[in-house]
Amino acid sequence: MRFRLVLVGFGNVAQALAKILVQKRKYLSRNFNLEYKVVAIADTVKGSVMIERGLDLGRLLSLVREKGSLNDYRGAVRGLSSVEMIKRTEADVLVETTWTNLKDGEPGLTHIKTALNHGLHVVTTNKGPIALAYYELASLARQKGRQLRFEGTVLSGTPVISLATDALAGSEINSIRGILNGTTNYILTEMEAGRSYNQALRMAQKLGYAESDPSADVEAWDPAAKITILANALMDGKLKLSEVRREGIAGITPGDMRDAGSRGRRIKLIAKAFWDKGEIKAQVVPERLPEDDLLSHVSGVLNSVIFSTDVQPDIAIIGPGAGPDSAGYALLSDLLALKRTPNER
Ligand SMILES: NC(=O)c1ccc[n+]([C@@H]2O[C@H](COP(=O)([O-])OP(=O)(O)OC[C@H]3O[C@@H](n4cnc5c(N)ncnc54)[C@H](OP(=O)(O)O)[C@@H]3O)[C@@H](O)[C@H]2O)c1
Repeated sequence: MRFRLVLVGFGNVAQALAKILVQKRKYLSRNFNLEYKVVAIADTVKGSVMIERGLDLGRLLSLVREKGSLNDYRGAVRGLSSVEMIKRTEADVLVETTWTNLKDGEPGLTHIKTALNHGLHVVTTNKGPIALAYYELASLARQKGRQLRFEGTVLSGTPVISLATDALAGSEINSIRGILNGTTNYILTEMEAGRSYNQALRMAQKLGYAESDPSADVEAWDPAAKITILANALMDGKLKLSEVRREGIAGITPGDMRDAGSRGRRIKLIAKAFWDKGEIKAQVVPERLPEDDLLSHVSGVLNSVIFSTDVQPDIAIIGPGAGPDSAGYALLSDLLALKRTPNER
């Protein structure tokens, strides 16, 4: 089977996927029988290009590196909007990597709906549409007989979602706990080493872990979106992002850290989804964890998720929670899953 891919968004993550696809073309073909061609790319500033016989990904990566634009690519249909491109291309998979918008999910939500309505499978790292509209999108995908895969929306390339759906298949998940945001975990780790919140935040910004506007992380919107995705996709919850109890880390002081340390505890921003009176609830709240809690040892930008299931107690995974290369790999793992189970709905 040869996938024809349309990439919408050609920023860090999509370029990381493109590099992996170029570098591993032979390996993927030999070992997984995965063949692909990229037939179209749409990006707001870099431009859009479409050639149904296939684009040369290596050339596109060089153009973006050298000129910051795809516009000099010869022989391509140019200038189509992302939505027009999804409708017109003969691709069979949309790779959606536009920015995460937790207010209304756009533009990703429209891209994903348009693709499913036009018979494309979708793989995405974009948290917005999945956190806000998982049920609508999953049921549209089922109705259209297509797949919607989103491994990279939670913990990037650390395979949390496929751990639950594939490796733990047959177990029912009773609860999920985790550290789902690398920026806040880095800041808390630095505060434990004696820095103030503002010093630690500035260090995170300098290292590229935190945005210049860090509110999505420090006010816990990002981990709230991720726990919503996990609760809905893996526990069959019906949660809205706005219903997640959410408390950020900006109010934590060095005194709080010292006090926790003197009691043998560590303060961590813990996301949880759990059953409460027959309903799935979720929260993201700083907690003082004892030493014997695995999550108290997850430091810096590392993230972790622990699943508690009906047949086994805690099963944990630890790994990077962000980074374009990791998210690019998540998209590859979704493509390989799609290849393995083309008829699964
Ligand atoms: N980077 C990571 O570590 C990571 C990890 C996991 C998940 N994610 C998620 O993956 C997605 C991509 O992340 P990224 O780091 O690659 O972001 P990025 O570098 O900002 O790339 C996003 C690209 O999408 C383009 N875009 C925005 N609106 C568009 C539209 N309507 N049509 C076509 N293109 C559009 C942007 O163009 P302009 O810049 O011109 O607007 C930009 O080039 C985000 O949703 C992010 O939250 C990222």
